[in-house]
Amino acid sequence: MIKVNLDNSKLENIEKIIESKLIKETSKKIFEKSGAGSDFLGWLDWPEKFDKTEYKKMQEVAKQLKEKIEVLIVVGIGGSYLGARAADEMIRGLYPKNGCEIIYVGNTISSTYTKQVLDYVETKKFGIVNISKSGTTTEPGIAFRVFENLLIKKEGSKASELIVAVTDKSRGALKTMADAKGYTTFTIPDDIGGRFSVLTPVGIFPLLVAGVDTDAMFEGAKQAMKDTKADDLSNSAYQYAAARYVLHTKKGYKVETLVSYELQMQMFTEWWKQLFGESEGKDGKGLLPTSVVFSTDLHSLGQFIQDGTKGLLFETILKIKNPLLNLSIPADEVNLDGLNYLHNKSFHEVNTIALQGVIEAHANEGNIPNIILEIEEMNAKSFGYLAYWFMKACAMSAYLLGVNPFDQPGVEVYKKNMFKLLGKK
Ligand code: PA5
Repeated sequence: MIKVNLDNSKLENIEKIIESKLIKETSKKIFEKSGAGSDFLGWLDWPEKFDKTEYKKMQEVAKQLKEKIEVLIVVGIGGSYLGARAADEMIRGLYPKNGCEIIYVGNTISSTYTKQVLDYVETKKFGIVNISKSGTTTEPGIAFRVFENLLIKKEGSKASELIVAVTDKSRGALKTMADAKGYTTFTIPDDIGGRFSVLTPVGIFPLLVAGVDTDAMFEGAKQAMKDTKADDLSNSAYQYAAARYVLHTKKGYKVETLVSYELQMQMFTEWWKQLFGESEGKDGKGLLPTSVVFSTDLHSLGQFIQDGTKGLLFETILKIKNPLLNLSIPADEVNLDGLNYLHNKSFHEVNTIALQGVIEAHANEGNIPNIILEIEEMNAKSFGYLAYWFMKACAMSAYLLGVNPFDQPGVEVYKKNMFKLLGKK
């Protein structure tokens, strides 16, 4: 379901540049769980081994909840936020006609944003899902307090029926609080870290309330699991990992820019940035993951990519074959704008031609390596596939670099400083 096209990557035959032994040895770290951080490889066979009883319970609770509410407030940050949003936007689009409205909070301490959302839901029927693996993260913690307070003010004792917690099975303040207050809880497995958790209740529960076909997501993930089992470069996830590794370590590129031509993929690129940035950016190593959405950014950063500093960045393009929706360009009798030459084309055809033109401009004239990832469509099955595929590629890529893909020591530094300044005991 993903084809890695390296024709414009400026790399000669990838199999000749990278030793097959290196790929095989690195793959062992994943499949034999012999690498650093191997306690966090629970996502590897999760599409097959996920807890079916808990999944059934999530389906039941989500069904009841969505009948009672207009808006679901999803509280969470980082790995407890980005996956659900990436999936929901990719699958349902930005203005879905059906399903529950989802609003994300707790990923910012912005008073303006948080207060605007509070005001917005004051007159609406809403529910809350509070997601935190540690159960102690400050940003979602304080956001939850204000939304919980509002819900209790509106609904009284019935509020507890409208609140769900997704957290550790036994540890952390959120688990203690949810049990004490009688909120339904779902479990984040011990062996799956935040940025690898979209297929656990972290992503699945909010997506069920949104009305996403999560069975199809698991089907896609299972397919990706099968398709990425090989320990050599016939594995497409490893092809991508190897190409970016060579561009970084042998050709000197420092930045990877993930390019999308679909606005509804923007949050997917945010999820990808966290996945690769937090997994690889340590010990003074790693590519800086950045993203753009074209055409929007062709009219801003496009200038830099075409003509700016060379040898700095390469692009990875998400080329989506079939759009979620399509529309044709109408003919105009007077043709004052001169656009009638396009009237027998659809928007998607023009978007695809733009993509080809940009690749030629950036790769040929601009000398920017382009990796193209060819993807069939934007639906639930495809999301499940992509999510698993990128996680596998990320694990390979980080191990190739010689870093632990599953920890994030750098994230702790700001927390310590913030707590000190806030006077936390
Ligand atoms: O990937 C990660 O581990 C982080 O981004 C966490 O998901 C994020 O800090 C949120 O943590 P928690 O779920 O414990 O609130």
